[in-house]
Amino acid sequence: MSWDIEKIKNDVAADVNAAEVLDALEAVRVKYLGKKGLVQEMYAGLATASPEEKKTLGKGANDIKVLADALIAQRKPLLAATVKRAQALDVTMPGVAREPGTQHLITQTIEEICDVFERLGFVIQRGPEVETEFYNFTALNIPLDHPSRDSFDTFYLDEKDPTAAGRYLLLRSHTSPGQVRVMQKHKPPLAVIIPGKVYRPDAVDASHAFMFHQIEGLLVDKHVTFADLKGLLTAFCKKFFGDDVKMRFRPHFFPFTEPSAEVDIQSNIFKGRAGKWLEILGCGMVHPAVFAHAGYPPGEYSGLAFGLGVERIAMLRHGIGDIRTFTENDLRVLKQF
Ligand code: DAH
Repeated sequence: MSWDIEKIKNDVAADVNAAEVLDALEAVRVKYLGKKGLVQEMYAGLATASPEEKKTLGKGANDIKVLADALIAQRKPLLAATVKRAQALDVTMPGVAREPGTQHLITQTIEEICDVFERLGFVIQRGPEVETEFYNFTALNIPLDHPSRDSFDTFYLDEKDPTAAGRYLLLRSHTSPGQVRVMQKHKPPLAVIIPGKVYRPDAVDASHAFMFHQIEGLLVDKHVTFADLKGLLTAFCKKFFGDDVKMRFRPHFFPFTEPSAEVDIQSNIFKGRAGKWLEILGCGMVHPAVFAHAGYPPGEYSGLAFGLGVERIAMLRHGIGDIRTFTENDLRVLKQF
């Protein structure tokens, strides 16, 4: 009997590949390598073969055995995995419902606050989070020796400020630098709000975070007065916290406004804080030095400015006691809003 070794090798490969399940692969193994399989048959044939044939037949049988062994061993784990997957897929099991996500409470609060001011005619602007000392401090009339410039109070980057020799870039510590950037670009009358992230190297606790959000407001025109500032912020507080919110303007100091004030509010919507005055923002009339840094001619314009902390307002409004809640990504919390 003569054997076409090359054809058998091709058959082995085709049979192994055609096996879709483990049982079929086992049948292929039996067909070639079993006790009554083809390889055994070839060995048996050796007895009657001529010395010439013996050489090719012996080598051929060996080659086929090695090939079949290798191909089967290669395919086996593949089919085994398919079995596992098939067993794991229980089509009668209930599916996993994908719930629609919600906006983060901070995003919602920013949008809501911006919404109130947009309806009052303000336009949203954005400033960079990486700032220069000029915009973050100098242009805002914050003197060189002011403690807020210290590296304990501001994150400085390793990167040099390309616009000022020997100075480094920083992460803005408030949204106020946006005021000067906007004024350099636009002439009054203007009314903008600038929402965004701010950074301070504070030790993290229930009321401090190294990153939080502020919304800056700026309105510049001729003859803007402190009465406009009071009227505007009163309108905002009533709209946002309800008509019976009580407000007080408490004198304060900021280098970039004169006069300056902090606004406290009292409302019975704040759970557990009834009767308490709670600070929500800083504000004032734009300092002439700031106008000068913006390139406005002296004496021509007046303006009002304010800056509020978004986390603080969201915490008050929703009775959240710990600022870390916002960055913990706990779905049980996030889903409530
Ligand atoms: N930039 C101040 C801060 O981060 C907040 C602030 C106070 C902004 C008074 C203002 C302002 O625009 O007029 O604490």
